[in-house]
Order: sequence, then structure tokens, then C-alpha cells
Amino acid sequence: MHVRDDFWSSWVQTILVLESSRSRRFRPELKEPFFEYLGLFEYARVLDVGCGPGTFARYLARYIKPPGLIWGIDRDRTFIEYARRRAEKRGVSGYMKYAVADALALPFDDGTFDSVTSYTLIEHAPNPEVLVREMARVCKPGGTISVMAVLSVESEHGLLRDPFDRRIEELFRKFRKAIEPLEEAYHVGRGLPIEEIPRLFERLSLVEIRISGFYTPFCLDDARYPLAEKERILREELTEPTEGFVSRLFEAFPEEFGEGSPARAEAEELLRLVRERCERRLHELRSGVRRWTVEGRPSLIVSGRKGKAP
Ligand SMILES: C[S@@+](CC[C@H](N)C(=O)[O-])C[C@H]1O[C@@H](n2cnc3c(N)ncnc32)[C@H](O)[C@@H]1O
Repeated sequence: MHVRDDFWSSWVQTILVLESSRSRRFRPELKEPFFEYLGLFEYARVLDVGCGPGTFARYLARYIKPPGLIWGIDRDRTFIEYARRRAEKRGVSGYMKYAVADALALPFDDGTFDSVTSYTLIEHAPNPEVLVREMARVCKPGGTISVMAVLSVESEHGLLRDPFDRRIEELFRKFRKAIEPLEEAYHVGRGLPIEEIPRLFERLSLVEIRISGFYTPFCLDDARYPLAEKERILREELTEPTEGFVSRLFEAFPEEFGEGSPARAEAEELLRLVRERCERRLHELRSGVRRWTVEGRPSLIVSGRKGKAP
């Protein structure tokens, strides 16, 4: 199957979804842990592999300064173009750089970076061993390679969980099946189980392997978020991505989702339920009704150092 260079941003997670969820996850108070676990320092040369729209790279740029350097690479051109525009707008494109590239064939010389990291990429990498070997290759001897992955523990207290959600989830799962062949071709969620990562680090002779992690719970009633922000989260992360997904389904499978078809009726039901849920929750937020439901999954960080040449 032809690898479309905007597959991820079109079908799996949009720019908005990644930006919004990640910017909440990478909180300022995590600076010290990230520095410690990822082997960072003020003038480090860092590479973020599978950087998506560059949210983590921009987080790091608050703390890493020239002559330090931050590079992000991703296969998805839409993400990279967006990340570049953001860097240019901030006038930092001299030390925040991005490239469309394959994580399994990194376009850098051996030993270029002090720290090479990735967030939620290894779960989708068709060949995790090649991925980590590449990360280690472009890392300097003595530098740190880190792989961050989200643990798949289901939260009992999912965001906005209410009786309508069960039907939304059921319909959503059903429609995601339509793109299973695409997901398989792109290896989405079919990479290395995360408990295998430390063994992979061992096999690749990385040293001082450490297991760390972070957890940023998210609660819509959290006082950190002003009302306008809560409203934005509801629309941009929950409602609009579903609308986008359904309209792409209509385009990609015109026969199955033709006017009057059963699939079309169910897709329209999904849209209606999602919009109703959003309106209901917006109404609650504006009238001060709190639910205190918490969602979020912990992220594991496996890090190791590249041994110095004898
Ligand atoms: C779950 S997203 C994470 C993006 C980003 N790290 C973040 O957390 O916002 C996975 C990313 O890996 C990228 N990706 C998947 N396989 C890739 C490959 N072989 N080479 C480069 N990027 C890849 C996708 O395009 C997508 O942006």
C-alpha cells in the first residue's frame, strides 16, 4: 500500500488533538524530571523522533537554548509543515528544526545528538529494533536514548463518561474497523509491547538502563483551565475530531456510506450523540455543575546511555 505522508494527521490524530492533549500532559513542573530522565541540559542537542506537530519540541525549547539545538522528525508532512511554521513565527527556526523523515532511517550523521527521545512512537514502529538502533546511532557516545510510551491501563473514570458514551464508543469502534486495513498498513498500535523495551535496550548494548515515568491526570473541572479553555477542549478534542473522522469516512467509502444506507444512518447517529454530549457538558460547565471525572494514563520512560567507545 502506498504510504500517504499525511496519514496520521488525517486518520489517527489531528494536529489539534495532539497539540491539545500533549500541551496539558507536558506540564512546566515536569521540567526537572524530563531533564533528569532524558539526559537534557541547557545547551543540549536533542532529537525528538516521531515528533508529530512538535508539541514536545516546543516544550523543550522553553528550557534549551542555542548553541543547543532541537530537531524533530516525523513521517507526516502536515505535522512537520505546521511545526516549521510555528518555529518561524517565534523566530526560533535557527535552533528548532524539523524534517519529514522515516524514524527507521534517520537523516543524521552518527553521534550528532546528546539526547534522542521519542514519545508514543515505538508502539507503532514496524521494526522497533531498527528504530532504537537508529536512535542510538545518531546519539553521541555517553548521550541518552529514551523511549516514552503510554501504559494501556483503562481508566474507570473516563472523561465525560455518561450513559450516552457506551453507544458512542460502540459506534466509534465499529467505524474504526473500516480503517483497520489502513491502520495495519501503517502499523498503528502494532509495534513493540512496552514491557519489551528494556530488553531491547539491553540487546542493543545500551547501559545504565533506567525505568521512569510521569502521569498528568486530566479533569475538566480542574481550576487550572478557565471556562473558555474547557469549552475549547470539549469542541476541539471531542466533537470536531469525530466530525472530521466521519466526513473522511464518507469521502473514502462513498458506496458504503451513501445517502440512505444503514452505515450512513449510524454515522449520523454518532455525530448527533457526540454533539449532544458536548452541548450537555457545556451547559453543565456554564452552570457550575462539576463531575470531577479524571482521565489520563501514565507514561513510562525507558532510558539508557550509549556506551563510550573503548
Ligand atoms: C502517537 S503520534 C505521537 C506524536 C508526538 N510524539 C506526540 O506525542 O504528539 C505517533 C507519531 O509517529 C509518527 N510516525 C509513525 N511511524 C513513523 C515512522 N516510521 N517514521 C517517522 N514518524 C513516524 C506519526 O506520523 C505520528 O506523528
